Amino acid sequence: MNNKPKVAIFASGSGSNFQVIMDASRAGDLHADIVAVVTDKPHAFVVDRATAAGVSVVAFSPKDFSSKVDYETAILQELQQLEVEWLVLAGYMRLIGETILDAFPHKIVNIHPSLLPSFPGKDAIGQAMEHGVKITGVTVHYVDAGMDTGEILSQQAVEVINGDPKKTEQRIHAVEHELYTKTLQQLWRPTGSGS
Ligand code: GRF
Repeated sequence: MNNKPKVAIFASGSGSNFQVIMDASRAGDLHADIVAVVTDKPHAFVVDRATAAGVSVVAFSPKDFSSKVDYETAILQELQQLEVEWLVLAGYMRLIGETILDAFPHKIVNIHPSLLPSFPGKDAIGQAMEHGVKITGVTVHYVDAGMDTGEILSQQAVEVINGDPKKTEQRIHAVEHELYTKTLQQLWRPTGSGS
């Protein structure tokens, strides 16, 4: 039967992408059950959003662990308990290490606010503005051990508004929300849906 994949969303900040994905899932527009939010920032706004949505929160501070392996092992135990099958990174500001990578082969996706391979890493929008590009965009990709280097699933261009990083960022966010939902819909399309 068309069992929905169980998904955890990893986020460190506001969680607007989490909200859009969650809403799509609850509305029946996304064939997935969002069962947890994982964060490295227990006070991030995404935690409030998850609580309001009644979604389990897994919040550990990396500084409370003696190594990245220990930190990720603690997360992994929670994910296994919730029988999570897919990880969706949405503004999670850490590199995923081998502990989690090995447990979810080809089952981790990320969204990045540039047309990769341009401007990987932090502050992609700032990097784009600094280079004076006229077109930047959004990429959804599988996660591997590198910094924003995994296989690309989808991309969409966004025109830079000259001298206005704030408005450019708003445009990028709006595109992210649409592109992430659309890409995940394709990834988790129920079998036998015929399209
Ligand atoms: C997004 O721009 C995402 O591409 C980047 O971090 C931002 C997260 O935004 N990696 P939000 O927390 O989903 O609002």
